[in-house]
Amino acid sequence: MVSERKSIGVGLVGTGFMAKAHANAFNTIPYMFPDLPLRPRLAAVASTSLERAEETARRYGFEKALVGHAALIDDPEVELVDVANGDRLHAAVALAALAKGKHVLCEKPLADNLADAKRLAEAAARAEKSGVKAVCGFNYRFVPAVALAKRLIERGVIGRVYSFNGCYLQDSGAFEDTPAEKVWYAAPGGPKNSGVMYGIGTHLIDQARYLAGEIETVAGSLRTYNTRRDSAAGKIAVRSDEDGVAVVGFANGALGSIRAAAVAAGRKNRLSWEISGSRGTLFFDLEEINYLKVFLRDTPVKEVSGFTRVNVTQLDRNHPFMDIWWPRGHGIGWEHAHINEAAHLLARIAEDGPVGPEAATFEDGYQALRVVEAVRRSEETGMRQRVEDIGP
Ligand SMILES: NC(=O)c1ccc[n+]([C@@H]2O[C@H](COP(=O)([O-])OP(=O)(O)OC[C@H]3O[C@@H](n4cnc5c(N)ncnc54)[C@H](O)[C@@H]3O)[C@@H](O)[C@H]2O)c1
Repeated sequence: MVSERKSIGVGLVGTGFMAKAHANAFNTIPYMFPDLPLRPRLAAVASTSLERAEETARRYGFEKALVGHAALIDDPEVELVDVANGDRLHAAVALAALAKGKHVLCEKPLADNLADAKRLAEAAARAEKSGVKAVCGFNYRFVPAVALAKRLIERGVIGRVYSFNGCYLQDSGAFEDTPAEKVWYAAPGGPKNSGVMYGIGTHLIDQARYLAGEIETVAGSLRTYNTRRDSAAGKIAVRSDEDGVAVVGFANGALGSIRAAAVAAGRKNRLSWEISGSRGTLFFDLEEINYLKVFLRDTPVKEVSGFTRVNVTQLDRNHPFMDIWWPRGHGIGWEHAHINEAAHLLARIAEDGPVGPEAATFEDGYQALRVVEAVRRSEETGMRQRVEDIGP
């Protein structure tokens, strides 16, 4: 019975886009994951404005509306702090929550600078020793096609991995007459580092590290094409990178490329990658979230060998997460990765198990930002960088 399960008080920081995605996750879990030993209770939501917090609490069913993250972290009813506000405040909120022994789900990028990300990774590693869990919100790990790709690679189905080539493409900055307020990385008062490499490149880097292994070397370039934009305060300077590409070398010898761009006209949110190995290739495109394209050299029927577009929602036991969702062949969407991620965190809290390797740890969040900083240093110096040399 759902009502007999233990519950955990969730405190949500933020009232925007991600707050909506996470509130949806915690609202959905009690009935879609009936076997989960821990039931989320929507204890409190905090925003910078009481009015917005109250409106969010009403809409999503939180018991309390608070102003500022400090009040939420102090609230004894809140046992899991969900950091869904802007990048600039991730470190302050997540560090304060961990210091109080609260579990944390922190949106990506882990922080808006490397020093804070390292502090967070260290704090999470310390907290883990007393059973406190921390997840960095690289939600794409929880897309069924991505989780299936991970399984196939680990089973050696595509053989030795040679390459990972990925793109994360959007177009919010593609047009020079779009005002700064409508371009997420150009808005005045944003985080310290707000470019595409921090904002979306980190998702792709996490996919690369998760699927193909640790990144060792980086040779990259960054561009800002629209260096001035209209804003309510008149023309303002924009310095954040809006396009970036890097050649990456993996510790296992594989080679790859990573491109993050917010100037790819027509692309709204296209995360895609192709991984090739000595026996086959896997291709994923977020615009076709329920499919993984697969080529395997060793197929029994030679006449139909070639790429197969596999619907990853067809096998309830063998396709990841499909025992939870709908009957065979009924697709799922973008929001389900957030739900799967939050449920995974609750399961690990309940059993006091490690959140990785399925979920990204704070260490993963830090390592992704080290790669981003390696791209930046490569752009500055014109030289290939070793990620291990990128401090702090
Ligand atoms: N995983 C993903 O797919 C994904 C997608 C988009 C954004 N993000 C990340 O999620 C985070 C939030 O992005 P968003 O698009 O929801 O932003 P948003 O601007 O829509 O929302 C941010 C919210 O934080 C609130 N806030 C700011 N300071 C606060 C404080 N001290 N206490 C409480 N609330 C505070 C703001 O009022 C606002 O409601 C960012 O770090 C972003 O990089 C992740």
